[in-house]
This record gives sequence, structure tokens and C-alpha cells, in this order.
Amino acid sequence: MKEEFVASLLESKNGSWVSAGGPNRGTQSRGRDEAATIDGSHDLTILPPLYLDSIHFRDSTFCFCFCFCAASISMAPIPHLSVSISSLFLLLLTARTNGFSEEKNLLHSEILKDEAVARLFELGKVSDSKDFLERTFQSAASVRAGNLIRRWMEDAGLQTWVDQMGNVHGRHEGLNPREKALLIGSHLDTVIDAGMFDGALGIITALSALKVLKIRGMLRSLKRPVEVIAFSDEEGVRFQSTFLGSAVIAGVLPVSTLHVHDKSGVTVQGALRRNAIDISEDNLLQLKYDPESVYGYVEVHIEQGPVLENVGLPLGLVKGIAGQTRLKVTVKGTQGHAGTVPMKMRRDPMSGAAELIVLLESLCNEPESYLSYDGQCAASTTQSLAGSLVCTVGEISTWPSASNVIPGQVTFTVDIRAMDDLGREAVIYEFSSRIHQICDKRSLLCLIERKHDADAVACDPELSSMLKSAAYAAVRPLSSDEPDDLPVLMSGAGHDAMAMSHLTKVSMLFVRCRGGVSHSPAEHVLDDDVWAAGMALLAFLSSLV
Ligand code: GLV
Ligand code: MN
Ligand code: MN
Repeated sequence: MKEEFVASLLESKNGSWVSAGGPNRGTQSRGRDEAATIDGSHDLTILPPLYLDSIHFRDSTFCFCFCFCAASISMAPIPHLSVSISSLFLLLLTARTNGFSEEKNLLHSEILKDEAVARLFELGKVSDSKDFLERTFQSAASVRAGNLIRRWMEDAGLQTWVDQMGNVHGRHEGLNPREKALLIGSHLDTVIDAGMFDGALGIITALSALKVLKIRGMLRSLKRPVEVIAFSDEEGVRFQSTFLGSAVIAGVLPVSTLHVHDKSGVTVQGALRRNAIDISEDNLLQLKYDPESVYGYVEVHIEQGPVLENVGLPLGLVKGIAGQTRLKVTVKGTQGHAGTVPMKMRRDPMSGAAELIVLLESLCNEPESYLSYDGQCAASTTQSLAGSLVCTVGEISTWPSASNVIPGQVTFTVDIRAMDDLGREAVIYEFSSRIHQICDKRSLLCLIERKHDADAVACDPELSSMLKSAAYAAVRPLSSDEPDDLPVLMSGAGHDAMAMSHLTKVSMLFVRCRGGVSHSPAEHVLDDDVWAAGMALLAFLSSLV
């Protein structure tokens, strides 16, 4: 009796409830014309069928809650509010089921957890090295990974293609192909000796959530197109210039990037051509999406830090992403014999590079001791720098690199990140002028090249609030202690969302990782946390049905 009552509510149309027959009606998809008549303020009425078919209602409290929510939904004038109501509704639904096994069934663990985790492991084995995980832009393994992802996109009911920057796309047009599309993405490339979750998690959870919608026959009821993009390069390992994949879609990749070359002299254009992708400066510009055709961009990513683990929660929202700059510093001296050139007569670029690297560490540890308040930045800048500034030398090479030779040249990379863009500039300015002073003192020649810049990005409050409601609804049934709220974090790591923010509003969801470790094979996300992330995206997508 109660089931029938609830089901009849689910068949609402334009705010007036109509009755419907058949025990499985909750899993049926709506016809195109019917769904098209439902406006944004009622969009949550479609959420319940996804979750209802394994529920047996137990008590009248549930029915009361349901009626309350259903009524609220019909009154909610703003989509954002209606997503919050949907989350509350989902929460109430799951709170009133008959035991955990039914909840599990209801929460699609076989796709959102078991299959997603199996896919993460499968993708984690697709590597250019047999000893560790490595997939750089357009490498053989990254092409194989792209093919695998493309198959999974098709399995989720999406139409797929690979663009001329090697990005893999999967799209469903939903009810109205002319509506602005929701883009969801992350990257398929990895660092060297990587973990298997960085990038992959965002792609796979998106595909799992869409696959659940497909199985439920709800994909074609999406009221706007949804497109998953597996970006070809975010890490910038091969060419140092990060976000090749997302920057081209956002229209912020300079055409000159096509001619940047890797260590073996292969250019970006050459790397693509080797894989039969013919790109020219003209068609690079055509890869840019029209901002008018895009609703927003959402990215799920492992946190890569320890905060979520510390607070004991699987998911958190991202408030903003730190700005970043990458430099390449070349120090030239005089190559010589390690046994014959007296110490005082050397121009040793290795010792010079060591002094520069230790200077960088000290500058970034205590920026306030190096930057002048009135000259380079205001007090607020140095304060915010002290909280977020991080600097790293991650790669160093010497020539000719032999133990009995004083090197002729040393090259190292510098990665500088901060939430405060002006502060980051001040640090770069200060570091650069001190590099020249030290090089002069040591009679070395120094060259500083700026390889990459991305300003700090703020996530969109409205999109983030919708994602937060969905994430809260996902976390609630999976946690033993009901959290009051989900944490909101700053991201020190760079993400495709940074490039995509030039195209559209962006929002990000972080997933807890063990020990906060990332960019390491020790990177790990619990199976249940993969599940929670999939649930969050599913709830978020359901608000678009
Ligand atoms: C990407 O992982 C970055 O933050 O460098
Ligand atoms: Mn990374
Ligand atoms: Mn990443």
C-alpha cells in the first residue's frame, strides 16, 4: 500500500501527482516528451526511481519524511536548493531501508565499487615500464589506456571519439543536445613511478555513475548533455608544459606548444603524428569548446594530502586550487678533470646548483625573511604565502654525468605553488635575482626559463554546493558516524579544473587517500571510498535527469 503511494508520487508531472501501475515502474525511464515538460524546479522527482526498487518501507516516519520532501521539491524554485532537497531525500530513503544488504544493493556496489576498483587496477597495469607505472603524453601505454577508457565509455552508453590532442571523449546527448553540456573529467597520463588513482579515479567514477544511469534506463532522460573527458596530459612529464589536454579544450593552449620538444627532440606535434593524429596550428584552435555550449566542469580526484584521513571522512569539497609556476634553471661552468683542477680554480655548476636549491628551500620556508613588505608584497600576501607556499626541485640532470668529471652543465626544474598569485610572482622575482647574484659570485652562467604558469583558481560556489549536497548524501549511508558536514579544502596539487576554469565554472570533489600519499606507488584509496565517490557523482548526475 505504502509502496503504491510512493510510486504514485514518483510519477509526478508538472507538479501534479498522477497514478501509475506496475510493480517495476520505479525503474522505468521516462519518455522523451514527458520528461521534457518537467522544469528545473522539479528535476528531483526523477531521483527516487534510482534508489527505490529494493526498498521496503518500514514505518510511517518514512512516509511522513517522503511527503515532506516531495512537497519541498515541488516548491523549490532554485536548482541548487532542489539538489539539497534531493540529497536530504536520498538520505531519508537510505535511512529507512531494511538492513545493510538492501542498502548495498540500492547503492549499486557491484558497479560503483567492485567494477570501478577492478578497472582502476586494470588501468594501473597499463604502463610503459614493466617495473613501475608510467604513462606520459602519447606514449604507447597512454594510447592503450585511451583505448581501454574508450571501451568503458561505450559500456556506459556514451558515444566516443579521440580529438587531435589525444583526449578521449564520451558523450550522451540526453534529452536536448542543444542544452549546455556538463563536462566531467580528469587525466589519463601519470607521473613516473605513479600511483594508480591520480587522474584515473575521476574518469572511472564518472563512467561508473553513468553506467548505473544507463542500466536504469535514465541516461536518455538527462536534461542536458553529459560528456566525460579523459585528458591526455595533465602531469606535463614529457614536455614540461602541463594541461596539454584540458588547455586545448579550454582554448588556452598557445599554438607554439606544438613545437615544444621532449628530451629526445620529439615535438608535441611529432608525438601526435607518430600515433596517426594529424594536428596543425589551425586545427589546434578548433579544438576549443564554445563557452556557450558548456554548463560547467566537475572533477573527482584523490586528495593527495592527509586532511580527509585526519578528519575520518571519505569525501571533501575543493574551495580553490593553488597557482603554480615551473622553471627550468640551467647552470653552466667549466667541464674538467676531477683529479687535476684545484678547488680554487673551478667553475663548478654542480656546487652552484646546490647553493641555488638550498636557497630556494630557505626562501620558501621563510618568505617573510626574504620579501620586503613594501617593495614586493603587502603584509597580507606574505601571511597567505606562509600558509600555502611550497617549492620543489624534482628533476636534476648534469652533463656529462660521470663521477670523475667536473660537470660542464647542470639543469634542474623548480616547481613553485601558492594560493596567492602576487606572492608567487614575488617569490619568483626574488629567487631569480638571487640566482643571478650567486652565479656572478661563482663565475657561472645561469639561464632561467619559465615553462609553465597557472594562476590560482576558485571553485564555483553554486556548482560546489550542488556537488557537496550530492557528496553528503553519498557519505551518509556509508559512514558509521553521521558527519555534520563535509570538509572544504584548498588544493595544493594542480588539476585539469585549473585549465577548464578558463572555459567554464568548475567544481571538484576530493577523495580520501591513505597517509595523504600520492605521486608514488604507495598511493591508495579504499574500495569503499571509490564507492562513495561514485555515489556522489551518481546523486549529482541524478539531479540532471
Ligand atoms: C599534478 O599532479 C601536479 O599538481 O603537479
Ligand atoms: Mn598528479
Ligand atoms: Mn592528478
